[in-house]
Amino acid sequence: MLDKNRIPEHAAIIMDGNGRWAKKHGVPRLAGHNAGMKSMIEVVRRANDLGMKHLTVYAFSTENWKRSTEEVSGIFKLLIKYVESELRELMENNVRIRILGDYSPLPKDARRAVDKAIRETAGNTGLQFNIALNYGGRSEILRAVQLLAKEAADGEIDPEQITEDMISERLYTGARETGCGDPELIIRTSGEERLSNFLLWQSAYSEFVFTDVLWPDFSPEEFEKCIEEYQGRDRRFGGRK
Ligand code: IPE
Ligand code: IPE
Ligand code: MG
Repeated sequence: MLDKNRIPEHAAIIMDGNGRWAKKHGVPRLAGHNAGMKSMIEVVRRANDLGMKHLTVYAFSTENWKRSTEEVSGIFKLLIKYVESELRELMENNVRIRILGDYSPLPKDARRAVDKAIRETAGNTGLQFNIALNYGGRSEILRAVQLLAKEAADGEIDPEQITEDMISERLYTGARETGCGDPELIIRTSGEERLSNFLLWQSAYSEFVFTDVLWPDFSPEEFEKCIEEYQGRDRRFGGRK
């Protein structure tokens, strides 16, 4: 049974398997991405109902630009469609949208839809829904390093005094950005068991749950099962118990 008093504050999901789902059903890849968006919306709803503080989803990686232009632009079109159609419900449910990643290279209409969602939900105090968009863990760390190097060059900080916290603060999850911090739980669907450049720094002590379910088939019930599995884990953080 799911323990409602021990819901992770921050869960993150690598939403994988849309393409395989489409293939299995004999439909175009984009139909798989469309079905995946629907799963995402239901999982956001459930996370909010469970009182989770932060839910982060990996929607588009810095490596996903390698796909066909048709698929890439189709994914962004779907993003616009769902951000626009869901905004009212997100507002009603007090959900706040944030982005992890540099979304400036996205098409202008996608950027505009995202900016609108961020702006309109900025005052909401319920679930913080973080969408990792053009996100890559290595480029995120590189960006933090560049910020620190600049501060050091400007004489604002002493390189010898740089701490782990100062790096964390400058990541997209850090206090200077979205403030969601490290996820206690990372879920990956579709049977793949790798990070694919997701939250590299932040996952140092995350619990991983892998499921064979393809993302479009991932239901709120599956989500709760993953949380239950997490609740059964013994987190030691290198110490002894
Ligand atoms: C995940 O599904 C969605 C994105 C990466 C945008 P995939 O499109 O990677 O699906 P598979 O892995 O090909 O099945
Ligand atoms: C990871 O999935 C990225 C997202 C889910 C957005 P991929 O399908 O891109 O990862 P690989 O290529 O299987 O590692
Ligand atoms: Mg994939």
